[in-house]
Amino acid sequence: MSNILLLTSSPRGAASHSSAVARDLAERLAAGTPGVTITARDLAADPVPHIDGVFLAAVFSAHPESLLDGQREALERSEAAIAQLLAADTIVIAAPMINFSVPTTLRAWFDNILRVGKTFRYTEAGAEGLVKGKKVYLVTASGGVYSDGAMKVMDFQVPYLKALLGFIGLTDVEVISVEGVAFGPEHAEKAVAAAHAQVAATAPGEARAA
Ligand SMILES: Cc1cc2nc3c(=O)[nH]c(=O)nc-3n(C[C@H](O)[C@H](O)[C@H](O)COP(=O)(O)O)c2cc1C
Repeated sequence: MSNILLLTSSPRGAASHSSAVARDLAERLAAGTPGVTITARDLAADPVPHIDGVFLAAVFSAHPESLLDGQREALERSEAAIAQLLAADTIVIAAPMINFSVPTTLRAWFDNILRVGKTFRYTEAGAEGLVKGKKVYLVTASGGVYSDGAMKVMDFQVPYLKALLGFIGLTDVEVISVEGVAFGPEHAEKAVAAAHAQVAATAPGEARAA
């Protein structure tokens, strides 16, 4: 039995390219192996709250057995998100580029799951990620092109996501990008088709009907 965690984060709903390509990938990966489940979470529709003083008081409390109500809920949400992550063998993250980085909902998810002693720890040799042995696929979508050329220095999306994932031990990361969708409908169509083709080559299982 294995489990795919599918995180989507576009605020553009059904129009999202990253969500569509990521769903295609998760379904093809699942179709290729019997008994695989997909746990899907749309962080735009069902966001993890941004961290705040209540969250921090809960996480760093010296008396975790006597948290106040709001603190307990904040901690439980974080623990649930971490449990979902740890239960997955494969993680598919769909990330639209928003202002050169990721949507704040995806950032909030990372803020909730990057917890010392849970997903990373500090040793004498430095920080060590505790979430190991999982494959991650990043599906990105952007108006411009950032994988190469003049705008590459403005990519605070893929390097950032890889750094966060690497910090918690997830170093096996494959990127599938839908780039340049702002260059016109024809360019967008080709970029989306190329991403689906990359998905089909990565996970040759049959895609389910949408
Ligand atoms: C609020 C907002 C900010 C955006 N910022 C950028 C940006 O900084 N760079 C870029 O290339 N595209 C930017 N875009 C375009 C999106 O990255 C593009 O529409 C992409 O397809 C979004 O992903 P999705 O299709 O999965 O929703 C932005 C779009 C929105 C709505």
